[in-house]
Amino acid sequence: MPDATTDGALFLRAARGEDTPRAPIWIMRQAGRYLPEYRALKERHSFWEMVRTPELAVEVTLQPVQRFDLDAAILFSDIMTPLPPMGVDLDFDPGPVFAEPVRTRAQIDALAVPDGGELAPFVADALRLLRAASPVPVIGFGGAPLTLAAYAVQGGGSKDFAAFRGFLRAERGAAHALLEKLAEVTLRYLRMQVDAGAQALQLFDSWAGLLDERSYREFGQPYAQRVLEGLADAGVPRIYLAVDAGHLYPAIDELAADVVSVDWRRPLSAVRRALPGKTLQGNLDPAALLGPAEALTLETERVLHEGLGGPHVFNLGHGILRQTDPDAVARLIDVVHGFDRRAAAWGDAVPRRPSAAGREHA
Ligand code: CP3
Repeated sequence: MPDATTDGALFLRAARGEDTPRAPIWIMRQAGRYLPEYRALKERHSFWEMVRTPELAVEVTLQPVQRFDLDAAILFSDIMTPLPPMGVDLDFDPGPVFAEPVRTRAQIDALAVPDGGELAPFVADALRLLRAASPVPVIGFGGAPLTLAAYAVQGGGSKDFAAFRGFLRAERGAAHALLEKLAEVTLRYLRMQVDAGAQALQLFDSWAGLLDERSYREFGQPYAQRVLEGLADAGVPRIYLAVDAGHLYPAIDELAADVVSVDWRRPLSAVRRALPGKTLQGNLDPAALLGPAEALTLETERVLHEGLGGPHVFNLGHGILRQTDPDAVARLIDVVHGFDRRAAAWGDAVPRRPSAAGREHA
């Protein structure tokens, strides 16, 4: 829960572009299997049941917020949630498994494009309850059209989404028809979430990095942009996530996103030069939480130093790993909240010997 050292609005201020005195922190997949209280609930309810029952979704969303001093809560749901209302049959085991991959023009033409109110009423109900109950800002989210299409065409998760990448070449017209529908549904779904109380939105384009820049500019960026631009008047910060996507930063920089979530592969200081107008979110390697406490502290401080010089929302570079010890999360949050960005920026401006502690990565 927030205390005197944190500010409930810190996350929203940084997401809107303010270079805040402390970095707010939330953690991707912060509600989930590394928490014993989540596993206890999962014994009694399936994942879909928890997602579709507003009281349960709210309970799971708030589990990490009650345990840790986090600066934001993210709705407990999944990027696949709007697909069943379009007519796509899928289940979770534990990742999404589709009854039938979506690969033909006839299947794509048959997909429904429901109104926001019909897409997932349980999500709207959960968000309304969350706004009343959450001590911190509530983040809504959805999958970017490209990433949703990757799962639907592939028929489930994959290491390389080869069937999907082949489909983009073999069925270019059908691919664009699918992406059009997914962009419209995603826009309606996210607007519905803002109407229900979401105070920020994250668009997960988890697999964009699989594409070369040219393919991304044809199949990824224009559809993500349509969603992000369609939310320009919604009044909430828009976060865009792509993983292993450094080669796409010139295209990502053009997106109408306020925040870009960055994986751990390059330092934030270098990413800041590639995305000069954005708030950066990230970018600790989730595996840092599996190592010794002293190493976690040093690595976290390195990320915090690299995040100076512009607005920064602290997060992991991707979702938290299920084998993470919750005590490591508590330590991480303490280090982030204890880091005074103004004092550190001033210290960084004072020339020091190159070997001075903690400066070897700057
Ligand atoms: O971040 C949060 O805490 C909010 C909840 C959330 C979930 N999925 C819960 C979940 C969010 C934001 C997502 C997004 C999501 N879902 C993405 C994009 C994020 C990313 O990682 O890039 C993707 C690609 C999916 C699809 C999906 N759903 C996968 C690949 C899996 C399997 C994950 C695994 O760890 O095995 C899921 C299931 C899922 N979604 C779980 C959770 C907590 C695990 C369900 C369980 O308890 O068994």
